[in-house]
Amino acid sequence: MENFTFYSPTYFVFGKEEENNTGKYVKRFGGSRVLIHYGGGSVVRSGLLDRVKASLEAEGISYVELGGVRPNPRSGLVYEGIELSRKEKVDFVLAVGGGSTIDSSKAIAAGTLYDGDFWDFYQGKDVEKALPIGTVLTIAAAGSEGSPDSVITKEEGMLKRGGHGEALRPSFSILNPALTQTLPAWQTACGVTDIMAHLFERYFTNTEDVEVTDRMIEGLLCTMIHEAPKVMENPDDYQARANIMWAGMLAHNNCCGVGRGQDWASHDMEHELSAIYDCAHGAGLAVVFPAWMTYTMQHDVKRFAQLAVRVWGCSMDFAHPEVTAKAGIEALRRFLKSIGMPGNFEELGAKEEDIERMAHTACYGNGREGHIGGFVSLDEEDLKAIYRLML
Ligand code: NZQ
Ligand code: ZN
Repeated sequence: MENFTFYSPTYFVFGKEEENNTGKYVKRFGGSRVLIHYGGGSVVRSGLLDRVKASLEAEGISYVELGGVRPNPRSGLVYEGIELSRKEKVDFVLAVGGGSTIDSSKAIAAGTLYDGDFWDFYQGKDVEKALPIGTVLTIAAAGSEGSPDSVITKEEGMLKRGGHGEALRPSFSILNPALTQTLPAWQTACGVTDIMAHLFERYFTNTEDVEVTDRMIEGLLCTMIHEAPKVMENPDDYQARANIMWAGMLAHNNCCGVGRGQDWASHDMEHELSAIYDCAHGAGLAVVFPAWMTYTMQHDVKRFAQLAVRVWGCSMDFAHPEVTAKAGIEALRRFLKSIGMPGNFEELGAKEEDIERMAHTACYGNGREGHIGGFVSLDEEDLKAIYRLML
């Protein structure tokens, strides 16, 4: 295991009806003038926004509102939010929604205190200062409720880029699994896929002797495989929703990734897909991951076989471990199909003619120097070959 530091200061509040305490937590973490940020309307329709506002009013906290965040959140609304926050002298940003709303809130929180263009943070500059952020989460997926990351798309050129900084970890996050019961099956499945992808990105490592985090990741993957079919079958299964929601946080606040190298090429490749086709991030990952695994398997067949045996219950073929490794990849494909995820470019709505452009941007965009991936370093030709496996 490698040396590491780990500081995850978010105060998590988990359980039924906890959104009614939002005002109390905003006050505890220093907010007196709040920007409530939300998405395309699901929180209005469910009545959640009204409950959150009532809880702020009960604590005598004033607020302004900005809705309209769309999936794959855009920079235009971030600029609007920064202007509004400055004008209204906001001292706290409250995200009510999913990963897109949280990421947009983080960008506004950082941009409000920054003299330059907030996009600098999405081109490699670390966020050192941001307004405090709170979240009321409505979908288990991106893990942004516990992560120091934010992903924003710039409209010119449709560039989807990640920003980073410990200041972006939310002060508090309220996780009520019942709020996820209104999700359409498709969004639930996209979320499940993203959570599993965050675990795979960390599992595939060249660092040796990382048994504790290996086992944590395997345990979380087994949980997802066990619980996801339950919510697909019965969207109101609160206990299954609860297990998935907490797994989503644990998968991405990096408690499973410390002390080990990580990969992240699949996320980079997916961000090109969702930038161009505006597809759901989880759906893009469902297409990318099996292809990436097939291409990189030979790099460490033992690790792929270990995953197949411990997570998918495949039997170990000691004479031919690659047979076991492949069986694990096939089990993943079958699982993703069973929850309704796409399996190739056509089902995702992606086009072969864009492969060269995506491979190039993934390798050279965002200050990268022609290769991505911490487990297997991939260049532009490798990425083209992997995208072609998705056809
Ligand atoms: O906008 P509304 O009307 O709220 O509808 C949303 C949206 O259409 C809907 N939804 C959310 N909760 C709902 C609901 N509908 C009914 N009932 C509910 N309870 O679901 C749709 C998707 O929402 P979104 O916030 O986009 O989902 P998700 O949490 O998957 O976020 C995806 C974004 O996060 C980024 C992705 O790239 C993508 O842009 N990521 C952020 C990360 C991070 N900050 O750490 C890491 C991830 O790897 C990921 O890249
Ligand atoms: Zn993700």
